[in-house]
Amino acid sequence: MSTIAVSKPSSSPSSHTFTSLPHFDRPTYLMCHPEWYDVNYVINPWMAGNLHRPARDLAFAQWKELHSQLQRIADIRLIHAQQGLPDMVFVGHAALVQHGIVALSSFAHPQRQAEEKHLRRWFESAGFLLWETPRETAFEGEGDALFNATGDHLWAAHGLRTCLQSHRHVADAWHTEVSSLHLIDPRFYHLDTCFAPLAGGHVVYFPGAFDKPSRARVEAAFAPEMRIEVTEAEATRFVCNLINAGREIIMGAAGSDLAERLGSAGYNVTEVNLSEFIRGGGSAKALALRLSDSKVTNA
Ligand code: ARG
Repeated sequence: MSTIAVSKPSSSPSSHTFTSLPHFDRPTYLMCHPEWYDVNYVINPWMAGNLHRPARDLAFAQWKELHSQLQRIADIRLIHAQQGLPDMVFVGHAALVQHGIVALSSFAHPQRQAEEKHLRRWFESAGFLLWETPRETAFEGEGDALFNATGDHLWAAHGLRTCLQSHRHVADAWHTEVSSLHLIDPRFYHLDTCFAPLAGGHVVYFPGAFDKPSRARVEAAFAPEMRIEVTEAEATRFVCNLINAGREIIMGAAGSDLAERLGSAGYNVTEVNLSEFIRGGGSAKALALRLSDSKVTNA
C-alpha cells in the first residue's frame, strides 16, 4: 500500500517520479452497480420527498443504459456495491484521480462516511497512491473538484459540502493551481451539479449557483464564446452533471435544446434518462468516476 501522510505535504508526489502507478491509455471510469441504491435519508434537497421512491427495476435499467453508453467511449471498472450504503452508486464523489494518485474523499455527512473504507480498499488494491483528506476538512471528490481539460488547473467548490481549507491540501497532491468557487444554492450542493469544464475548453455552467466573485472568476477564465450557460430549468434537470470524454458527452435528459447547442460547439451528445437517480440528487457524472488522466480522457 502506498499512503502519503497528510502531515507532510512537502513530500507530496510528483507525477513523474512514480512510474509504476496505474496508467490508462484509454478513457477509463469507475462505476458501482445500484444494487443497494435507494433514498433512505435526506442530505440534499432532492432527497426530500423522495424517501424510498426510486423504482428499483427502473433504476437498474437506467444505470445499465448509462453503463452501455459509457462503454462505447470508455473502459469501465466496477466496485462492489455494499448493502446499507445506498449512495455508494454515486461513486463520482468518492475521490479525485490524476496520474495514478487518488485524493480520497472525507464525506461531510456520516451517512456517506462508511463508503470511504470500501473505496480506499479498491484504490489500494488497484495500486493507486493514496492522498488522505482529514475528517475535519470535508472533501467530496469529483463532486466538488474538477480538473480543466488539460489537467493542470483544478476548480474546487466550498460552501455546502467541501471545506475551503481542503482545496489547497488536495491540489498539493499534484502541485497544481486551484481556483475556489463558492456555492450558494443548496439545490446545487456539489460543483458537478452546476459546472462542467469540457475537453474543447468550454464550460457548461449555471451562474445562479455561485456567488458574485466566483462567477467573475469563471468569467475571467473562460472567454464569452467558451461559456455555455444553462437555464435554471436545465440546471434543475442536472444537465451540468455530464460525463465528457473528448468530443463525447453523456448526460441526463435535458428537456431543452442543450444537446443542439453542445452539438454546435463540436460535441456529440447522448442523453440518457436518469430520473431515478435525480431523486437521490445525482445524474450521469455522479455515477462515474474518472480514473484515466484528464489528457487521455480528453484526447
Ligand atoms: N445522495 C447523494 C448525496 O447527497 C447524491 C450525490 C449526487 N451528487 C451530485 N453531485 N450529483 O451525496
